[in-house]
Amino acid sequence: MRTPIIAGNWKMNKNPQETQEFLEAIKGKLPESGVEAIIGAPAIDLNALTWFSKDEPLKTAAENCYFEDAGAFTGETSPKALSDMGLDYVIIGHSERRQYFAETDEDINKKAHAILKNNMLPIICCGETLEQRESGKAEEWVTGQIENAVKGISDDDLAKSVVAYEPIWAIGTGKTATADQAQEMVHVIREKIASLYDADTADKVRILYGGSVKPANVKELMSKEDIDGGLVGGASMDPESFLALANFQ
Ligand code: G3P
Repeated sequence: MRTPIIAGNWKMNKNPQETQEFLEAIKGKLPESGVEAIIGAPAIDLNALTWFSKDEPLKTAAENCYFEDAGAFTGETSPKALSDMGLDYVIIGHSERRQYFAETDEDINKKAHAILKNNMLPIICCGETLEQRESGKAEEWVTGQIENAVKGISDDDLAKSVVAYEPIWAIGTGKTATADQAQEMVHVIREKIASLYDADTADKVRILYGGSVKPANVKELMSKEDIDGGLVGGASMDPESFLALANFQ
């Protein structure tokens, strides 16, 4: 049984004050069991999140990190420091990082190793453009991204990790992939993992869908066999909406 995940990704939104206000609003209202609620936030907000998560059923995620633990890397965030702070997850390979910050499959793979080495778990994002989908190349592209991201990762580590399928054309556009489209690709990803590892590992990996997930569509997405949760941008920013998502059951 895979525990469902509702993971917010605030992207470059919310300052520490706004983060405090959000946390006050959700305090005591997250489900105690049955779902893993995660917030991914900008680095400047993570301290507040990790303190909050000591007493509340919330897991925490950074939105990026570097792959070295320390050194002369001005402006980067150390995975070791994130781990020392108590972070649970790091989102890597988000399409915005690939597009605007030239993050490559190789970087993503190095980051995945660094995150796991530091006892956190990666949320590995993948997804195709509209053009790739329309030209019938989506599956090849997405499975290629996964294959490159997981190189050298052990089956035990991969089984604990999370994958997020986010079709780029559905991010922030209000255009959700239909639950069937999402299920279809998530299933393809699971099959790919089974072929790279084995059926048991593929069965354990939690695979999320991301792209305009909101309280109104979360139930239908979650009803699909292979979809284990949502990675949510816009609809994770408002406390009521995040709570509605986390309490989707
Ligand atoms: O990582 C979450 C994401 O990119 C989806 O954003 O705003 O479409 O839910 P949104």
